[in-house]
Amino acid sequence: MNLILLGAPGAGKGTQAEVICQHLSIPAISTGNMIREALKSGTEMGLKAKSFMDAGKLVPDEVVIGIVKERLAQDDCKNGFVLDGFPRTIPQAEALDKMVKIDKVIDLEVSDEAIIARMSGRRVCEKCGATYHLLYKKPKAEGVCDICGGTLIQRKDDHPDTVKARLEVYHKETEPLIAHYKKQGVVKRVDGQEEVADTTRLTLAALEA
Ligand code: AP5
Repeated sequence: MNLILLGAPGAGKGTQAEVICQHLSIPAISTGNMIREALKSGTEMGLKAKSFMDAGKLVPDEVVIGIVKERLAQDDCKNGFVLDGFPRTIPQAEALDKMVKIDKVIDLEVSDEAIIARMSGRRVCEKCGATYHLLYKKPKAEGVCDICGGTLIQRKDDHPDTVKARLEVYHKETEPLIAHYKKQGVVKRVDGQEEVADTTRLTLAALEA
């Protein structure tokens, strides 16, 4: 199954992508994680992307489209994939339409107020990128990743002012994608304001519907 998880920054796309990819044995592809990896490795693309990310802006379409095209051509995507954070603009969606057929788009809905409150508690592993929350998804040992033992940090772009900027970009550039995919008849809306386990139940039900 070829899937897209749509939703505002912090709506829970990464959290649900992790569950879906285990459930369906398909890879989760997060453009945010791929860009952060490139930045960590000091590649030219990563360094270019840094100023956009830190300001809560989108990285230029041609850069992101290129990395997704390369990733989808890999063998592990043959039986499907979950895209998390891509597409984010109409040109990205149009480019994706030319690459593959999308079976379902899960639109995770969370209010802006809930997102701003949620983001201050997010922590990520600086080594493997796993996501935690100080209240809703605590690691077993404080500040330490359950999976790889790496240190948990707060993302630079999770500070409240940057979160507000990211939400503005989301409403302007990404929300119109819901109408784009509604025309293809593939959108399923899921309430992302429930607790993590309830959102997972609703998401898996939407995939089977
Ligand atoms: P990216 O990393 O994709 O960030 P994002 O879309 O803004 O999404 P997030 O990762 O912040 O949130 P999420 O929805 O995955 O939520 P999560 O599951 O972590 O992109 C970062 C930047 O990269 C962009 O700003 C841009 O610059 C660039 N970029 C990436 N893709 C691009 C593209 N296609 N085009 C151009 N630029 C691009 O959950 C958030 C927190 O809430 C966690 O702590 C989690 O534990 C908790 N949580 C999750 N679900 C629940 C729940 N139901 N209840 C309570 N807490 C919950």
